[in-house]
Amino acid sequence: MSIRSKATTAVASAAAMTLFAGTALAASPGAPGAGDPYFPEYGNGGYDVSHYDIRLNYNPNGDQLSGTTTILARATQDLTQFNLDFLLKVKSVRVNNAPASFVSDDGELTLTPRGGVRKGQDLTIVVTYADTPSAVKDRNGITPWTKTPDGALAIGEPEISSWWYPSNDHPTDKATFDVNVAVPNGVEAISNGTFVGQTRQINGWTRWNWRSTKPQATYLTFLAIGQFEIRQYAAPNGQPVVNAYSERLGEHTDAAKSSIERTPEVTEFLVENFGPYPFEAQGGVVTPDLGYALENQTRSTYDDAFFRRGANTYVVAHEVAHQWFGDSVSVHHWRDIWLNEGFASYAEFLWSEHVGEGTAQENADFIYDSYPADDEFWQVLPGDPGPSNVFHGAVYDRGALAVHALRVAVGDEKFFEILKTWLAEKRYGDATIEEFIALAERVSGQQLDQLFQTWLFTKGKPAEAPGRPADA
Ligand code: ARG
Ligand code: ZN
Repeated sequence: MSIRSKATTAVASAAAMTLFAGTALAASPGAPGAGDPYFPEYGNGGYDVSHYDIRLNYNPNGDQLSGTTTILARATQDLTQFNLDFLLKVKSVRVNNAPASFVSDDGELTLTPRGGVRKGQDLTIVVTYADTPSAVKDRNGITPWTKTPDGALAIGEPEISSWWYPSNDHPTDKATFDVNVAVPNGVEAISNGTFVGQTRQINGWTRWNWRSTKPQATYLTFLAIGQFEIRQYAAPNGQPVVNAYSERLGEHTDAAKSSIERTPEVTEFLVENFGPYPFEAQGGVVTPDLGYALENQTRSTYDDAFFRRGANTYVVAHEVAHQWFGDSVSVHHWRDIWLNEGFASYAEFLWSEHVGEGTAQENADFIYDSYPADDEFWQVLPGDPGPSNVFHGAVYDRGALAVHALRVAVGDEKFFEILKTWLAEKRYGDATIEEFIALAERVSGQQLDQLFQTWLFTKGKPAEAPGRPADA
């Protein structure tokens, strides 16, 4: 239910009438969602963001976050009002230097700029706020913000931005970012892209400044705060590498380093298979308390549990592969998640072959054989898993089998040409599964509907393992 007051609505329409009197097209409110079938409330309509400047102060003592986010955007329609996705307590909003009235309701921050907004108009939106993110829940009672003993993790997929900065929270609206976070001296604050340096604050705090210069999705923008050992150096290709290890890793520290420090090597291997690396920096962050790994742009984050039994370069190959599949080429709808997870999982098959621990075919056989035909696993469609199954094992494992089935059908030469053409054509954008199928058919010259129907869109275990000789 909306708590939007009648007074606010009346002000908005009066302003709109003044501005748009005599014009044929009436201005209207921007849509409160971007039209995603799985998550209709994610994102917003009516404008396009080009840049976020997130300037915050964070005190781990009490989980206190405050500061200002400045958003540069452009209106894509005449607007009486528009929304940002945000859950924290807002103190003030300005649009193009004038105070704007605002209403916060259930994750939607609705702004009513004085006099409305014209299609094509540049917008400078300044939001100031302060809150305790770990105490803030979304409409499903969930808090992806993680308070840790020494800091916090703003890391999550598909949702996290609403717990630390206001945004147009959908991968179809990417932007560049400056993330500048002040913390008490002695605390580390790590984010995406290039480390622009530290600035001493007059209050005895230190501000950490990070910059992403390539288009970046809101959910791939992260913050890790706490006690970290940071390693910074140049990769063989000259790019900056920044890795960070929580001081709470204990006996897992060396296994974590033995994995993450090989990120430039893994990146080089994937460049051979996928084409040019899309971003300006590399790295990894390892921490307890996350429970999974996530491909934050240029700097994936890994739960330390991945390194419990020694080095694990498979998870590194998976997350680095996401820099191409997911970060550079993003899902158009969250329903298209196979474009991320199927290919990142398949990168583990490629890496396995590269390090001599089993061919891609052997990996595919192993996965196919490990799920009996009556397993519930085969009832989830990688091509349309449903909003509660976006990260179901079928999207990963059956998703990788689908990629292998394509490789076997078109042959190695066409297969890698498909991957490289796809990544070049869709670079820094977003895409659907249907577009991938069309491109695979175009590049291979083959009709592939039946293959993808079987592996992505039909329930039940396919009768044959992809690529296995019939008599095997
Ligand atoms: N994209 C991540 C990965 O596969 C998975 C994130 C899972 N998210 C979650 N909340 N469990 O590397
Ligand atoms: Zn993944």
